[in-house]
This record gives sequence, structure tokens and C-alpha cells, in this order.
Amino acid sequence: MSTRNGLRSYSLKIWRQAGPDKPGNLVDYAVSGIHPDMSFLEMLDQLNQDIVCAGGEPVAFDSDCREGICGTCGIVIDGRPHGPLVNVTACNLRMREFPDGAAIVAEPFRAKAFPIVKDLVIDRSALDRVIQHGGYVSINVGSAAEANQMPIPKDIAEQAMDSAACIGCGACVASCPNASASLFVGAKIRQMMLLPQGKAERTRRVLEMVQQMDAEGFGDCSNHGECEAACPKAITLENIATMRREYVRAALKSGC
Ligand code: SF4
Ligand code: FES
Repeated sequence: MSTRNGLRSYSLKIWRQAGPDKPGNLVDYAVSGIHPDMSFLEMLDQLNQDIVCAGGEPVAFDSDCREGICGTCGIVIDGRPHGPLVNVTACNLRMREFPDGAAIVAEPFRAKAFPIVKDLVIDRSALDRVIQHGGYVSINVGSAAEANQMPIPKDIAEQAMDSAACIGCGACVASCPNASASLFVGAKIRQMMLLPQGKAERTRRVLEMVQQMDAEGFGDCSNHGECEAACPKAITLENIATMRREYVRAALKSGC
């Protein structure tokens, strides 16, 4: 229960797994002295300090920016990737969202294409390999353009920016019953095909990225919409529709 200074205590069940080929299970922990403004990851830091002081092995989890930018902090919290709040990454989730004394379950993102490395850490390099197959502009587009030299309507620029907000966290994959990466790949394709610099490689890009997505073992999209609900950056299903249109267009154009 909370103390007079408002610090909270929690009962945790955390997935522990020593390595990729080792068995895993949920382990019970109690953590106390948690300020409501601490992030979920800071709460795990506190837990790890307690575990290390008691001579144990700290819980492995990923993080980098802790500002909702890098996409490395994926954790399934109480059954939902990144936790119960919409449009919030695990690193930006505050402990005030959990009542004092709450029981909280933390597990890794689960998907065939995201093998578990240790505890809550997964290998998300499959997403990097999809990007390596066309998720960039390789042609020389010259030096930085003068403002307004390349006219781009504001609504198009806004749409491209909305798609570019994807941080590659993989929550869309973890939430999808098919473990599909369609929301991620759709966002990466759309952010570039909308802008002049991305149009020259538009056909090759979508064909190669979709092919690599399949090769990595991601499932197909069956329109459940869980990805959109779990995405911390509000990437919409429209990105998947765009990817499909782009794929059909590219396939017809290339004759494959
Ligand atoms: S689409 Fe959303 S959930 Fe999927 S990787 Fe990008 S930011 Fe994460
Ligand atoms: S640690 Fe970078 S988005 Fe969470």
C-alpha cells in the first residue's frame, strides 16, 4: 500500500527466459517505493536494483531514448503492447496509470519473426532487413532544397509525415493475430511514395519490401485492426490499404 509520501507498491509477474532456446516462465516480484510519475521502465530499473542487491539476475529489457522516439522499448503490459494507454510507448507510460497495489504482468512481444533473446528482449532485426530491401531513397536527389523550391501540397506533406511517425517498435506485429508487419511496411512505403524524392523507385521498393516481409515469416493482414489500436504513433490502417494498392500497381507495371 502507498506510504505517506505517496510512493506505491506493485505485485509483478515478469517473463523470465535465460536465452533463446531456454524455457521461460512468469516469475512473481514485489516492488515498492515507486513514485507515480516514474515511467514503467524506471519502475523496472528500481526492481532490477532490488534484484541485484539481493544477489539475483536483473530482468533484461530494451530501451534507448526513453522519449518515445527510438522504438526499442516494446513490452506487452497486461496483455497489451506498450500497456493500457493509447498512443503511448512503454517508456512514456507512467506508473500513475496503475493503482497502488495493482498486479501487473509484463511479457515480451511475441511473434515468429521476433525471436526472444532474453527475458523481455526480442530480436527485431527482421524489420531492419525489410527496410534494407528498398525502404530508402538510393538515387541522388541533390543537396538540401531551398524552401518551396519543390512544391508539395500541405495535405500531401502532412500525410507523408503521419506515416513517417512510425518508430519501428513492432507493436503492430505483436498485437496482430497473424503477426503481420503490414502496418509497419505500409507506413514505410507510404512515407516515401507520397513525396517526389521517393517516386522514382516506387515500383521496385514495394515489390522488394513486401517480398522480404513474407520471407521474414510475418503473417498476412486479415483486417483485424489490432495493429492500429496498439500503435503508439497512431499509424492508421490507410497505410496498409496504400501498400496493397501500390503492390498491385507495381506488379502490373513490372509484369510479375
Ligand atoms: S506502425 Fe506503429 S506499432 Fe507498427 S512499428 Fe510503426 S510505430 Fe510501431
Ligand atoms: S525507449 Fe525509445 S521509444 Fe521507448
